[in-house]
Formats: sequence, C-alpha cells, structure tokens
Amino acid sequence: MFESLQPMPADAILGLIVEHKEDPRAEKIDLGVGVYRTAEGETPVLHVVKQAERRLVDSQDSKAYLGTAGNPSFNSAMQSLTFGQAEAADRMLTVQTPGGSGSLRVAAGLILRARDSATVWVSDPTWNNHVPLLGGAGLLLEPYPYYDGETHEIHIDAMLEALRAAPKGDLVLFHACCHNPSGLDPSEEQWRQITDVVVERELLPFIDMAYQGFANDLDTDAFAVRHMASRVPEMIVSTSCSKNFGLYRERVGSLSFLVADRDTRDTLASQVSSYVRTLYSMPPDHGAAVVSSVLHDAALRERWIVELGAMRNRLREMRELLHGALKEKAPSHDFSHLVRATGMFCFLGISVEQVGRLKKDFGVYMVDSSRINVAGITPGNVEYLAESIAAVL
Ligand code: LMR
Repeated sequence: MFESLQPMPADAILGLIVEHKEDPRAEKIDLGVGVYRTAEGETPVLHVVKQAERRLVDSQDSKAYLGTAGNPSFNSAMQSLTFGQAEAADRMLTVQTPGGSGSLRVAAGLILRARDSATVWVSDPTWNNHVPLLGGAGLLLEPYPYYDGETHEIHIDAMLEALRAAPKGDLVLFHACCHNPSGLDPSEEQWRQITDVVVERELLPFIDMAYQGFANDLDTDAFAVRHMASRVPEMIVSTSCSKNFGLYRERVGSLSFLVADRDTRDTLASQVSSYVRTLYSMPPDHGAAVVSSVLHDAALRERWIVELGAMRNRLREMRELLHGALKEKAPSHDFSHLVRATGMFCFLGISVEQVGRLKKDFGVYMVDSSRINVAGITPGNVEYLAESIAAVL
C-alpha cells in the first residue's frame, strides 16, 4: 500500500527545530520556529497558566465530552477578546478549535461548503504554512503584494491596487498584527483604506490573529478586526492562544464568523458542528479551560496582561539590542527595519546562500527567507550573533 509514497521534505519551520537540536556546537542560536523564549533561552509555562491549571485540577469534576464547539465559556471570552464590545454579537458565531491552524482548517472547509470555487488572496509573503494548509484543503489562493524586500516597507499602493482588481466576493487573508514573517503591519490609517476597498469591492475579510498582544496592547492589536467588523456584513477571524498564553502544545484557538443575520448564524453553527464532527469530532479541552478561567477571573486576567506585556517588551528590547550590535559590527548596512517591525518576526534581508552559511559556519538557524524569531536573541548571544551576520554579508 504505502510503497508508492515518496519522502516529503522537512517542514521549512519545524525542520529547523530538529536541525538545531542535533547541532553539537555550544554557541548555536535558534531563530527559527515562533516560540517565545526568556533571556535564559527557556519557554516557560506562564505563572498565570500554572495558577489556573492548579485551580482546574481541584475544581474539574468531569472529563465527559463537551461537544463539537468546545467550551462555551471559552468561546464567549474569546469572542469578547477578539471583537471587544461588538454591536453585532447576535450575528456572530465563535467556536473553540485545535490551535490557530485548526481554526484556519475549519474555516477553509466551511468556505468550500458555501462556495466550491472560492479564491482567497494571501499576502506575499505570508506564513510558510498558510499556503499548504489552506491550499491543501482545496481553496484557490492568489498572492497580493505586501512586503517590499528592497525598502523593507509595506507596498500599500500595490496592495490596494491588487485588492481593487480582485473579483467581487473573493476572500482576503489578512494578518491582524505582527505580520508573519515580515513583522510589519499597516497603520490604523492604512487599515481604514484597506477596509474601504474591501467594502467597495465586496470582498470577505478572513483575518488570522495569532499574536494579539505581541505588537501593542490587546485592544490596539485588534484594531483591524474591530474596524472591519464595524463596516462589513461578513467576515471570518481565526485566533490562536499559542503565543499570548504560551499554550503552544495544548492547541488552543478559536474561529469566529460574522454573518448577515441571526438565522444564517444558526445555520452556520449547524454546518460548523457537522464539519468538525467529520474532521476531529471535537477539540481538546485542557488549554481552552485554562484560557477560559484566566479570562473570566479579573485578578488572573490582570496578571496575564502583565506577563504578556513582559514578553512583548523583551521582544522589543532584543530587536533594539541586535540593531545596536549590527550598527557596530556591520556599519555600512542599514538594519533599521529590525526596529520598525513588531512581534516575534522580521526579515534580516539576506540571501538564502547567506542563511546557509550562518547555519553551517556559525550554528545560527533561521528560515531560508531570512525570517528571524527575535525571541531567540539574548543579551548573552547578541554579540556572537551580530558578528556571525557581519561575517556573511
Ligand atoms: C511560526 O511561524 O514559526 C509559528 O507560527 C509556528 C509554526 O507553526 O510555524
């Protein structure tokens, strides 16, 4: 049966975890997969998560099934976290999903159930897994210009022009904040312009918000979602709690739909339920139960916001640190885009060949596109990192 299968290449991001782990060099640096790390290189469980987990162990009295939509109190808390106090709550549906990827996958299935020839416009570039995940589910994907690798800025005019030319009814995948991989987001003014085009062309926004709280505070990072929700009749939002709650391996995410009216919402709820049942039956409970207890408890929520702020600030400081070190080690090169970007990622702006040399000669690991996860930078390794980068320029 399986002899006809050919081996697949390792995933561009996940493959780096293994390569870095197997590298015996003590000075190696992992700037690959998007996980937060402390200055000691650890990815600890948030204190607030530990606290909520202890409470859960004591208070949970059943492990019986919850159903295809997951935990209702998680869903209501995530809907508010995503949309704020939305006026259109009776046109909204939110379900718990296995991570942000599970959310994107369920969204893809529902889009295809509604329209089998749907086209989704995706930013060029976008997260390495967006195209395999959404395209693999059967959606047609088209790129829209986003990042200018020369100037390290957003191609806003080209982006708006491409969206103006998109056929009515097509979907557009946006990153709500901390664009992965570039780290560059439209300003609020630019989001307003983008929304005008979305409304004018009757496009359907499909927003991926995997880093809420990593660029700015939770509300500022949700600007694009909330602004669009106030202007469009329909939209889809996928969220992830992997980064902002540090719950990576627990697989916690949500999928929200804003639809035309309450009846459509109810029909959609039955469709989502039947779709999820055929895919994974129902989402895992634990991580979402943790998030729900944090978001519904004022003291825990406050503590979470403080821990999230500390992660965000460390990322910002590490960008500044690397930028400063590169100014010294490679003074003729401009790396100022490193500090213009936010969140976990940005491009270094070097070639695949230079990325290869960094890995081979210095044990510095990053995605081939030269996307770096700034959480891998520490005060202890930044000198070595900047010297290594300068050596391959
Ligand atoms: C990343 O882009 O590195 C993260 O979102 C992790 C992943 O699953 O790729």
